[in-house]
Amino acid sequence: MERPKDSFLILDFGSQYTQLIARRIREFNVYSEIHPYYFSLEEIKAWKPKGIILSGGPASVLSSDAYTVPLELFSLGIPILGICYGMQLMCKLLGGEVEKASHREYGSSQITLLENADLFRGFKKGKKLSVWMSHGDRIKTLPKDFIPTAKSLNSPIATCQNKKGTLFALQFHPEVHHTPQGKEMLSNFIFKVCKAKPSWTMKSFIDHSIEKVRHQVKNSHVILGLSGGVDSTVTAFLLHRALGDQLTLIFMNNGLLRLNEEQKVQDLFKNQKQMNLKYVDASQKFLSELKGVTDPEQKRKIIGRVFIEVFEEEAKKIPNAHFLAQGTLYPDVIESVTFKGGPSATIKSHHNVGGLPARMNLELIEPLRELFKDEVRSLGKELGIEEEFIYRQPFPGPGLAVRILGEITPERLELLRRADHVVVDEIKKAGWYRKVWQSFAVLLPIKTVGVMGDERTYEHVIALRVVKSEDGMTADWGELPYELLGKISNRIINEVKGVNRVVYDISSKPPSTIEWE
Ligand code: XMP
Repeated sequence: MERPKDSFLILDFGSQYTQLIARRIREFNVYSEIHPYYFSLEEIKAWKPKGIILSGGPASVLSSDAYTVPLELFSLGIPILGICYGMQLMCKLLGGEVEKASHREYGSSQITLLENADLFRGFKKGKKLSVWMSHGDRIKTLPKDFIPTAKSLNSPIATCQNKKGTLFALQFHPEVHHTPQGKEMLSNFIFKVCKAKPSWTMKSFIDHSIEKVRHQVKNSHVILGLSGGVDSTVTAFLLHRALGDQLTLIFMNNGLLRLNEEQKVQDLFKNQKQMNLKYVDASQKFLSELKGVTDPEQKRKIIGRVFIEVFEEEAKKIPNAHFLAQGTLYPDVIESVTFKGGPSATIKSHHNVGGLPARMNLELIEPLRELFKDEVRSLGKELGIEEEFIYRQPFPGPGLAVRILGEITPERLELLRRADHVVVDEIKKAGWYRKVWQSFAVLLPIKTVGVMGDERTYEHVIALRVVKSEDGMTADWGELPYELLGKISNRIINEVKGVNRVVYDISSKPPSTIEWE
């Protein structure tokens, strides 16, 4: 496949931030690829990168089995930037000395610039910059022909470069948000040192993905489980461009969807694109299997199992289907690696339809696997998807089931749907919908006493949950104006029959979670 002329190669040593390096480079409209650190010298030469970045990694270069690269890499004449582990490896291989730091520098730190170095163009010698460190080793002595370019509190050599201006190393992570000037440093490497030209846009990403998917799928057929959320919607539009009729979307109604959701989703796909959309109404099956179940974990397990059973049955009816597409994003990938066995792993096992691919002998297609949520939204815009769908808040796979505490019955579902509709409606009208991560109603398993007219009432309680978050991993409760809270409460109590009380959830995650179950 054609690669843009000015491409960058990132050699990965296992840092949790490696994808972030690629993302920063994309932000400069430059193309990059991540390959494992053992990508061979022959492959690298054939690849002809404009520059190479050695990522960070959790190990120490001092250990006997440390990951490494061939020494010859540094004499190919290609500019190289080593970050964290990448810095220590570069210095060690070229004859410098690395040692365990007496005081480990983790988290926020400060460097002082010692030189008007190439990576620090735009900043004066002597300037102090905040940076993000995450390693226990440091450089003791430099390789021949290298100069130190910045120091930190615990390390006299926090950054360095060779005198020729082709090899560079940073002890900290320029790619993370917590290194505010990191972008400028990466930009200096890419544009000033490597002299790359920006040419990689979202449109190039689309063209590239289309070509890749066509190459992979050939004449087979692809199935995609559509939830109506941002990720699966964007995946569907992207794959439709690549495959047209070779793609079938399966949209399942599990009976746990929000008000009018099944119609909204079908309209989007039918009106806009005439895609092969198979609507499967399995709501009765789900609700009868959930009858009488109150335990949250059991609910999730039942929903996951029934989803797989129904999906499999439907998928089998599609001839020549060899691929299953999923809208997995990069944060889903890290989450399931970092938190194996934790609650997030459980979340994702449902989200990604669990063992389906292996069980059905389907190959996976995940075209968004390297992207972050905001990039997926830009991609969605480029693909012409309506804004309403692009900016949708996340909605959990098990749907309203995890927002109805206690038993799930058609009556309780109806009540929650109406209350939830009011919440979203008012939040949108007040301009808060895009400012928060999620805003929804929860139906509690208790009733409380109230008074209406001269009558005593004994009715349901709705909890209002509004959170701010970057990625759903941590969250703060949203500080909505009292006036808006009052309006939502009023409308729910007046419009939703069976509710006489609304409470506001003021807990953050951790130690709470966003959903109540
Ligand atoms: P919690 O409640 O764990 O939720 O703080 C974090 C984020 O994940 C969503 N969530 C799910 N998404 N399947 C999903 O696809 C699930 O089973 C699931 N459970 C929670 C939740 O809405 C929040 O955005």
